[in-house]
Amino acid sequence: MEITSAEFVVSNSRADMCPQTNLPEYAFIGRSNVGKSSLINMLTKQPKLAMTSATPGKTLLINHFLVNKEWYLVDLPGYGYAQRGKKMMDKIQKLIEYYVLEREQMTCLFVLVDSRLEPQKIDLEFMEWLGENGVPFAIIFTKSDKQSSGKTKFNVNRYMEVLKEQWEELPPYFISSSEKKTGRKEILDYIESINNS
Ligand code: GTP
Ligand code: MG
Repeated sequence: MEITSAEFVVSNSRADMCPQTNLPEYAFIGRSNVGKSSLINMLTKQPKLAMTSATPGKTLLINHFLVNKEWYLVDLPGYGYAQRGKKMMDKIQKLIEYYVLEREQMTCLFVLVDSRLEPQKIDLEFMEWLGENGVPFAIIFTKSDKQSSGKTKFNVNRYMEVLKEQWEELPPYFISSSEKKTGRKEILDYIESINNS
């Protein structure tokens, strides 16, 4: 699939105020700084569409981007950034919970994990929670440009081994680099296959 248009629509601090349309939504979630907003910019080829920062905790709202006037990419705040303070953490957790569990238009959640790290408890627990609640998701291993492809493959295999211990069926996964623009076709083709199903 090619993206012919992508535009920012709205930021919301409340999930119940998100756009009232029936268009499918593909949302990006993961720890702060994992590269969610950068990936949206890479996929849409618009480097400034979603705001990014080297400092964790940049995205604090639910951001909707309309793509090809047919579906949405949704940028969510990162989880697990304790330095925000407890009140903010609670608020963000509620926002994420509400969006992930209640948003009917949410068609697939992409859980982003850093391809350089060994499986992190916070991500594994988050995926377990998704499974318990029957939320459809796929994994994206980010920042693959930061190491050799051999090391990325090693880390990804190790990750899937850990998931195999918990899951009967493994989620689809993708490897990406927003820097080198890899993984773009695979992710967009996956979205297209769901849109057409
Ligand atoms: P929050 O909004 O704070 O939750 O973070 P985020 O997940 O949206 O991360 P963001 O896209 O803002 O990126 C965080 C930092 O990582 C920025 O400095 C990006 O330039 C960098 N970054 C993101 N993706 C990549 C990548 O694929 N490769 C490299 N080398 N750097 C990346
Ligand atoms: Mg962000």
